Amino acid sequence: MRQLVYISSIRRQAAIDPANILATSRRNNARARVTGLLFFDGKRFLQALEGDDAVVDETFARIQRDDRHHALVVLSSREIERREFGEWAMAFNAPGDANSEALEQVEKLVADADPTVRATFEGFAKVRRAA
Ligand SMILES: Cc1cc2nc3c(=O)[nH]c(=O)nc-3n(C[C@H](O)[C@H](O)[C@H](O)COP(=O)(O)O)c2cc1C
Repeated sequence: MRQLVYISSIRRQAAIDPANILATSRRNNARARVTGLLFFDGKRFLQALEGDDAVVDETFARIQRDDRHHALVVLSSREIERREFGEWAMAFNAPGDANSEALEQVEKLVADADPTVRATFEGFAKVRRAA
């Protein structure tokens, strides 16, 4: 089983509707038994995908072709024994919102994850909070 974590930036002119992305993702991911977490701070995405190697590769290939975002950087791609993010979830905060609620949610969601992955998520949320 594979776990892939990446970060990306929205395209400047992209109209991002997180609810729409989430609905599509849930539909496709449920079918492919892909789970994970998507965090959106208004400018950047951070996503973890977990599932069988082939379906994670296929899903990520589709996501990479999506022109709503660009500059994807894979932070980690590793074999896992079992899922570290139990179920799909998404923490969302709109630009200008206080970020503490989203940060708390992310911390709760990643509490059981690998320490490296956990640090990445927490770092992401803290960077955005300081900005
Ligand atoms: C940041 C981001 C994350 C996404 N995550 C997923 C995902 O986890 N699973 C998925 O199927 N599509 C995801 N998508 C959407 C895909 O890029 C693509 O639009 C979709 O899979 C096409 O599905 P459809 O052919 O059923 O419309 C994501 C898109 C973005 C911008």
